[in-house]
Amino acid sequence: MKKLYEGKAKIIYTTSDPEILLTQFKDDVTAFNSSKRGIIPGKGEINCQISSALFKWLESKNIATHFIDQPAHREMRVRAVKIVPIEVVVRNIAAGSLCRQTGLIEGKILSFPLVEFYLKNDELGDPLLTRDRLLLLELASQKQLEQLQSIALKINQYLTEFFASCQITLVDFKLEFGLDSQGNLLLADEISPDTCRLWDQQTKNLRDRVLDKDRFRHDLGKVEAAYQQVQQRVLEKLGIR
Ligand code: TMP
Repeated sequence: MKKLYEGKAKIIYTTSDPEILLTQFKDDVTAFNSSKRGIIPGKGEINCQISSALFKWLESKNIATHFIDQPAHREMRVRAVKIVPIEVVVRNIAAGSLCRQTGLIEGKILSFPLVEFYLKNDELGDPLLTRDRLLLLELASQKQLEQLQSIALKINQYLTEFFASCQITLVDFKLEFGLDSQGNLLLADEISPDTCRLWDQQTKNLRDRVLDKDRFRHDLGKVEAAYQQVQQRVLEKLGIR
């Protein structure tokens, strides 16, 4: 095994099969384009388990993902893909940068799910792209954009319903996609409390209800406990434990 790439939250290793990579989830956490750093003990295992469970479940709903299996607590075997350098964000409720950039009040239910495309480029601070800028940069064709938008909306439908069954509101989330050697578009990266905003429906207090990385971003404390709460509910609902 050779280290292929180390990112902020994961390390990717090659395997003996060029079509298969091994992802190792780290406990490291960053926010605001790495200006804030920390460690959440146990996060790697938690995010690997949640992501694996959700990818497997989405596969059962005919969403193509890079997930193969989870050989160890913090390791996921995945199909090798070339990552499309676009972060696809879907929002159901106003929060985060949408509030900062538009003045919408946090917690406002959006009249339709908003799909946004960001350039995956840390040096540029992952800027929000217009559709025309996307086409201009030749990051995707018009057809691929439509495909990304429609898969993202479908995933939003599935995940919103699933998290609701765990008494969790899916506020927004970020997806990444990749192309395999045959050119198939696969859902990649991870789906976890690092990449979603998740609010506990049983807790009314606005700070206490946060079950995701916003606890780290805004120093709300009890980060690990929140991640564990999501893990427990997701795995229980899927009958994994
Ligand atoms: P934002 O409100 O900060 O733009 O974030 C929207 C969603 O995307 C939120 O669920 C967090 C997730 N996200 C990531 O997964 N990675 C990132 O680098 C950023 C900025 C957001």
